[in-house]
Amino acid sequence: MTSQDQAREFAEAVDGLAPLAVRAAATLRLADHIHAGHTDLHALAGRTGTDPHALHKLLRFLTSRGVFTDPGPDQFALTPLSATLLDEHPSGLRRWLDRGGIGARMDHALAHLDTALRTGRCPYTDVHGTGFYDDLAAATPDNTFDQLRDQHADSFAHELATSHPWPTTGHLVDVGGGTGAVLEALLTAHPGLSATLLDRPETVTAGMQRLSRAGLASRCTAAPGSFFDPLPPRADIYLLVNVLHNWNDHHATTILQNCAAAAHPESTILIIERIADTGDARALTAMDLRMFLLTGGQERTLQQFHHLATDAYLTLTHTATIPSGLAILTCHHPRSI
Ligand SMILES: C[S@@+](CC[C@H](N)C(=O)[O-])C[C@H]1O[C@@H](n2cnc3c(N)ncnc32)[C@H](O)[C@@H]1O
Repeated sequence: MTSQDQAREFAEAVDGLAPLAVRAAATLRLADHIHAGHTDLHALAGRTGTDPHALHKLLRFLTSRGVFTDPGPDQFALTPLSATLLDEHPSGLRRWLDRGGIGARMDHALAHLDTALRTGRCPYTDVHGTGFYDDLAAATPDNTFDQLRDQHADSFAHELATSHPWPTTGHLVDVGGGTGAVLEALLTAHPGLSATLLDRPETVTAGMQRLSRAGLASRCTAAPGSFFDPLPPRADIYLLVNVLHNWNDHHATTILQNCAAAAHPESTILIIERIADTGDARALTAMDLRMFLLTGGQERTLQQFHHLATDAYLTLTHTATIPSGLAILTCHHPRSI
């Protein structure tokens, strides 16, 4: 390949139009309309309230890139790529890309990368007037962060519940536990465990509904509130699943200190998230940059987790990794080792 070919290929890869075109297709739910049989350009324009001439340009652009195919004049069909844009696809991709959803607000903050590089500060609050977790109410009710998160948590919750030596009895607190995907998997797999779900109030409400539907309400307690306040005391296990990477060191240490203060001497505090210096560098560096831009958080190396634990008067005693790549970091009070 000549250097000119290379430059052309690179320019195409970083061109900003394709991501916007895919977002437009996702927002208009083109894949769902085609899947429902509205394969003709004019039918699609009617379903989506768009101008047929303009829509044709979008469909041809995306067809030339393999997102759709055109089996006949003005006819469009799905490909494996556009099948991932169906609303019910387990990846939740369509909802993340929808211009009316929380994903679009994230994109807006990511676009301020250059400012963030100069200031060294997370741009989300400057862009939206409030921090990421306070901004979640701005999403449309059918496309919330909780729903999208839930879909993601479902992808690893069962594996987490079955690939760690969980105790047969005891009480755990899922700190920032979202809408209960992890608790549902854990309590289903381990009938001797009970749990408290702690998260922001609206998230806990949705989580308790989910846990009730799963027949687990009698083993679950709701704890609407903040992990920056004192936590429910004396649980056997405090779980922090994908929580600390949302926060800078100061806030992450406070959350861990609150777990340590609530824990009894034999309690275990489990930090469950990816470790920055192991695994897929593409995914991890993307998440690290994303966390910085959205929440001011970061991905951490094992050494950085050791420092956080020490600053919270805890000792990180054991590290394991489950097949999906999530690490389980076990922390204790030093005197219980
Ligand atoms: C990245 S999500 C992780 C959710 C869940 N643990 C999982 O892995 O799917 C972070 C969670 O922290 C919650 N959260 C954010 N700020 C919080 C606060 N101050 N107190 C309690 N929970 C909070 C969010 O609502 C969200 O559910």
